[in-house]
Amino acid sequence: MAPTPFIIVAIDGGAASGKSSSARTLSERFHLLHVDTGSYYRALTAEMLRRGVPANDPAAVQAALTDIKLGTRVEGRSARMEIGGRVAGDEIRSREVNDHVSHFAAIPALRNALLSYQRGQAEVARQHSFRGLVMEGRDIGSVIFPDANFRFFLHADQNERARRRASEGQQDSIAERDRLDSSRKTSPLACPPGATSIDTTHQTLVEVVELMATAIAATPGFA
Ligand code: CDP
Ligand code: CDP
Repeated sequence: MAPTPFIIVAIDGGAASGKSSSARTLSERFHLLHVDTGSYYRALTAEMLRRGVPANDPAAVQAALTDIKLGTRVEGRSARMEIGGRVAGDEIRSREVNDHVSHFAAIPALRNALLSYQRGQAEVARQHSFRGLVMEGRDIGSVIFPDANFRFFLHADQNERARRRASEGQQDSIAERDRLDSSRKTSPLACPPGATSIDTTHQTLVEVVELMATAIAATPGFA
């Protein structure tokens, strides 16, 4: 019998487009390691803020990065980033981090520090006997895993996304983050050629996941 393939699923999109919810569901359904790269950018942002390093000083950010040791902890089906042996908590969803994360994420040295780390998560998934990995972010299908087996790009109307975030009780400047993420020079948020673009504005989460799951289930060994 042919060995079951190891698959990589990339999900990108703007804030509150439905990336985390669908990635979490797919990870359960197909036993994939779930990697939320937004939480990595958030954790590094919280660390920079803790150290008093400003986002408008890329040299200071680069210097701080050389002093930061990254690790990975697998909890259930999720990969968590450790900074100095510690996994960040709820502070990464704070208003302060929401307001600063896109500024830090635009710094090439910071993105570069995360590049090989994110690619290395495939090996973490293999070591933990997952059947693949589902990674969500802004540049997964374009830069991190351009050869992923599946690349999805989620869209949704800005008002609908703001409504979703507010109903989670979060204060978040979605429009401003989208603007910064789409206009930065390094790895901007954009649907890469060849990715499957899905407008989730009027679709329930169940419908969106079903669309993705149907494509994945067509892979031999993944039904
Ligand atoms: O959950 P939400 O979509 O609001 O944001 P997130 O996925 O937690 O990402 C937070 C921020 O990290 C984004 O606004 C981007 O600035 C940055 N990010 C990025 O630049 N590249 C990624 N692959 C993931 C996140
Ligand atoms: O990860 P991302 O920021 O892209 O979005 P999310 O955290 O998965 O979804 C944000 C909120 O929108 C969650 O409360 C989801 O349940 C909700 N959602 C929705 O109502 N309809 C969808 N099609 C997708 C997400």
